[in-house]
Amino acid sequence: MVNEEEEMIVTPWVVSGRIDYDKLIQQFGTQPITDEILERIKKHTGELHLQLRRKIFFSHRDLDWILDRYEEGEKFVLYTGRGPSGPVHIGHLIPWIFTKYLQDHFDAKLYFQITNDERFLYHPDFSLKDTMKITYDNALDVIAVGFDSVKTKIISDVEHISVLYDIAIKVAKHVTFSTVKAVFGYEDASNIGIIFFPAIQATPAFLESALSGQRTPCLIPAAIDQDPFWRIARDTAPKLNYYKPAQIHCRFLPGLGKGGKMSASLPETCIFTVDSPEVVEKKIWNAFTGGKPTEKEQREFGGDPAICTVYQYFYFLFEESDEKVKELENRCRLGEVICGECKDILADRVNAFLREHQRRREQAKNLVKKFFIK
Ligand code: TYM
Repeated sequence: MVNEEEEMIVTPWVVSGRIDYDKLIQQFGTQPITDEILERIKKHTGELHLQLRRKIFFSHRDLDWILDRYEEGEKFVLYTGRGPSGPVHIGHLIPWIFTKYLQDHFDAKLYFQITNDERFLYHPDFSLKDTMKITYDNALDVIAVGFDSVKTKIISDVEHISVLYDIAIKVAKHVTFSTVKAVFGYEDASNIGIIFFPAIQATPAFLESALSGQRTPCLIPAAIDQDPFWRIARDTAPKLNYYKPAQIHCRFLPGLGKGGKMSASLPETCIFTVDSPEVVEKKIWNAFTGGKPTEKEQREFGGDPAICTVYQYFYFLFEESDEKVKELENRCRLGEVICGECKDILADRVNAFLREHQRRREQAKNLVKKFFIK
């Protein structure tokens, strides 16, 4: 359970307190996604993904610039990633599903980085062997999202470091220790591997430019926790004669407990892509909702969807129709629906979604080689 009074902290490794997204835009110095930008995207995509319609992707840097370039005939590449610390949960899928939408509609190449080096260096208990095993397992989830096998290259840092290293050291040469200390909160006791690591995560943003020999715009879709890395990438880009990478940031899918983002460190409040139907039902059955203690009170006073995790899951991923989401919200407030009904519907939807994802995951075992960068 998250203490709502706690100070808001959002870093690549810690997300805690009640998250105020407007405040984050101010703190991080990013821009809100305006209706004008949404209209511009719609002109190219024909339809707006629900994560845009519902402002799940809510903030950006230079998205308008990416659209300018695109409209002038310059294609951009996409870049996103995963730090393999354990099984993938459906929160991770939020930016990946959206990245696929961008890949499909803008016919964009994607670099997908798996930072097994980061996870090995950050977790005192992780062996390199474990992280490499998880790398392969997580790659199956990435492929199961449905990315184009020709246009997508997965980079496993430890295995493909030769693709990154010469760019990474050029980036690193322009980043001082005091900058990474200030941006990432490193201390004297931090191991020196993590001090270099931000250069490795910045690098794929420049990979297409380096490989093609032509400056290529790059757009990074991710939750806002990854933003500190892009500050490093954006500061160094002009020094290396690359474009600054643009970003589009999403909110966090909450966990099933009271407050807080979905995080594997609280597995009982987390739906993993490999969970069985029984496990999913049990987790959803125990979810924190905005319901009243008794059915009678719920019918009389209604529930509060604003704090309900079950409602949030429909909103983020499991109800495509905006009308139906609105209707669900209204019926909940009016006491016309009780929590058990919503939980049953949600469990069915999550299980249908996972059944299909798990089927594609199995198929992905034959495709992994094709997706990894050479
Ligand atoms: P990682 O593995 O922590 O997270 C993978 C992606 O999932 C996002 N994310 C979430 N999105 C919505 N709701 C949640 N509850 C949630 N939890 C995590 C993260 O923002 C991320 O986009 N260092 C990175 C790996 C990485 C990367 C990148 C990520 C390398 N290059 C480029 C994004 C873009 C990491 O450990 O992500």
